[in-house]
Amino acid sequence: ETDDELVARPPVVTVMGHVDHGKTALLDAIRNAKVAAGEAGGITQHIGAYQVITEHEGIERAITFIDTPGHEAFTAMRARGAQVTDIAILVVAADDGIMPQTIEALNHAQAANVPIVVAVNKIDKPGANPQKVRQQLTEFGLVAEEYGGDVMFVDVSAKQGTGIQEVLNAVLLTADAGLDMRANPDKDARGVAIEARLDKGRGAVATVLIQSGTLNVGDSIVAGTAYGRVRAMADENGVPVLAATPSRAVQVQGLSSVPRAGDTFLVIQEDRTARQIAEKREAAERNALLAKARKRISLEDFT
Ligand code: GTP
Ligand code: NA
Ligand code: MG
Repeated sequence: ETDDELVARPPVVTVMGHVDHGKTALLDAIRNAKVAAGEAGGITQHIGAYQVITEHEGIERAITFIDTPGHEAFTAMRARGAQVTDIAILVVAADDGIMPQTIEALNHAQAANVPIVVAVNKIDKPGANPQKVRQQLTEFGLVAEEYGGDVMFVDVSAKQGTGIQEVLNAVLLTADAGLDMRANPDKDARGVAIEARLDKGRGAVATVLIQSGTLNVGDSIVAGTAYGRVRAMADENGVPVLAATPSRAVQVQGLSSVPRAGDTFLVIQEDRTARQIAEKREAAERNALLAKARKRISLEDFT
């Protein structure tokens, strides 16, 4: 890949943090939607992905957001070798301060070498102490700029919608400060399945994040052990998409089965080859499972 084939792409951002600290509320405030209010029990059941356009220093910029249920999807994806995130927003409720999953989340981000922006949320609450959150996180290597460090902290109230633009600015400043976010859009697409499910009417529906190249309707793809021709694509609002460029997340229809979160996908020129690759992978997985089962049985025989 030569340098001049690379084109700037939007940053891909994951929102992480302790349960109920306001990850979904923050994402809602960012896109001005009301997903959290409509969720069963207010617990995130899925990974949503969407893109927002924001004006930053006079230029329109896009940011792709991924809503993880806690940090589990992040872990599952990393376990499969997929790194989807450029930047992590760590949400910490200013009344609770740091909690066990706050530490887990920041450990995951640090292990993956992903820069962190801290959103100190719920500053509208009576017991909020945003400065204490800054002090607490210092012990974990996250030192705020105002304390001489290089981590951007932003005080927000997802509920009242304050500090939201500042979060977007912090994300773009962090991206521009040290990340090379470019990809070649002029080749066959590659990326990662973020979520997938079986839909009664539409069959396997997978949300995929394009990491390089452009995915087109009609392309033949392999995702994990699933394969097929992209029959239709849609964005987060259900609007049809014909071609998806780097950092876009789109829902794809047409796969033979449901891929797993973290499965990588790629375009294969020949339908037949796509099918063969998928079938080979499936056979390999089956064999690995069988070998495991045999090992267990033979161990049980001797104990
Ligand atoms: P999980 O996905 O279950 O881990 O939770 P979450 O981190 O996505 O938190 P969620 O957005 O569901 O918010 C949890 C609760 O905190 C909800 O009742 C929200 O209304 C409330 N909440 C979120 N942000 C704010 C805020 O800025 N201020 C106040 N007062 N409440 C908030
Ligand atoms: Na919640
Ligand atoms: Mg949530």
